[in-house]
Amino acid sequence: QRPQEATVAHPDSLAIPAARAAGCPFDPAPGVDRARREEPVTRATLWDDSPVWLVTRHEDVRTVLGDPRFSADATRPGFPFLTAGVRELAIKSPSFIRQDDPEHARVRRMLTADFMVKKVAAMRPEVQRIADDLLDAMTDGKNSADLVTEFALPLPSLVICLLLGVPYDDHAFFQEHSQTLLSLRSSTEEIRHSSDELLAFMTRLAETKRQQPDDGIFSRLVARGELGDAEIASLGRLLLIAGHETTANMTSLSTLALLRNPDQLARLRKDPSLVKGAVEELLRYLTIVHIGVPRVATEDMTVGGRTIPAGEGVLCTINTANRDEDVFPAGDTLDVGRDARRHVAFGYGVHQCLGQPLARLELEIAIETLLRRLPDLRLDVPFEEIPFRHDMGIYGVHALPVAW
Ligand code: HEM
Repeated sequence: QRPQEATVAHPDSLAIPAARAAGCPFDPAPGVDRARREEPVTRATLWDDSPVWLVTRHEDVRTVLGDPRFSADATRPGFPFLTAGVRELAIKSPSFIRQDDPEHARVRRMLTADFMVKKVAAMRPEVQRIADDLLDAMTDGKNSADLVTEFALPLPSLVICLLLGVPYDDHAFFQEHSQTLLSLRSSTEEIRHSSDELLAFMTRLAETKRQQPDDGIFSRLVARGELGDAEIASLGRLLLIAGHETTANMTSLSTLALLRNPDQLARLRKDPSLVKGAVEELLRYLTIVHIGVPRVATEDMTVGGRTIPAGEGVLCTINTANRDEDVFPAGDTLDVGRDARRHVAFGYGVHQCLGQPLARLELEIAIETLLRRLPDLRLDVPFEEIPFRHDMGIYGVHALPVAW
């Protein structure tokens, strides 16, 4: 069943999350995209009627995310939350993504070596093997499947479990609770329950790693002894969720976008050397962190000619920034040959995505392998029946029935 839109429009100002409604499901919500053209720094309203500033253009988004006077600390008054549940999560068990330096840098430094480009590149054969094994199983005696459950989700799940040292056998458990945490529809009670379950899971895992260390990231974090038990648990939860939900949704949404743009698909099939650049273009065009990146001003700040007073919340809509024609001519067009490297799909500034080398490697391998091994890949249902994730903090599709 197709999920309902996340919200209905507020009578006075744009309600966030804004509905995509009848527009193209790959494009930003029409209201937010209109703001970029007409009033690029504009006021909007959150679920609890609190106001938030939308920053919609590429240059302004980089100004905000690049300036520490816009704080990522979710405990500061005025910090904007998308739902009551998100607020519960960020305040009760914070991790470094919602902290400022120096606390943020202290934790990030413990992880940078593990996610460096060179370290991640060494995982290529392993990721390729996982992709091939999944496609072997998916195609074995069959000519149709749900690409999300058979390929796009298990690929990054298996990889992040391997990296962290989390048993993949528990995937049904942590995938279900991750979904609850990311759903804009979850009640505060549901969020609290799933969060507690995941934190308890991570605490048990930390204890296991203390007794029987392995060479995974989680074991090393535990062995360093610099983080408290609660900090370890919320960090493990963040890495596990960020590590599989994002790449999984990019993989399935990218596949769908290519199937909907057969000319671009044909270019990639003809010249696989384009895949690397196509991944950047798909990251730009699809921008799955679709609702935006939140901050709060700690001083009166001027952005795009508007004054954002100290203590007021800001949402950087990176999906509209990635369509900004000043940086990406014909930004609403998917063009796998374009140089899209200036996109802000991974954010910008000190919080820029830690996992981006891994995400890039996984996406490159997933797309190249899928196109090479399934030359006749096609949708198995009409496009109109695809259930888009309007109801989730990370955009994508709930299912992608394909045939070959
Ligand atoms: C941060 C997007 C994959 C781990 C971020 C941010 C964005 C983002 C926009 C910035 C948030 C902010 O500034 O508030 C994405 C996308 C991905 C992806 C689009 C895939 C296509 C991954 C993967 C991991 C990961 C595979 C692996 C663990 C993180 C972490 C942060 C982060 C730990 C926080 C960094 C910090 O605050 O310093 N990501 N991400 N992400 N991402 Fe990713």
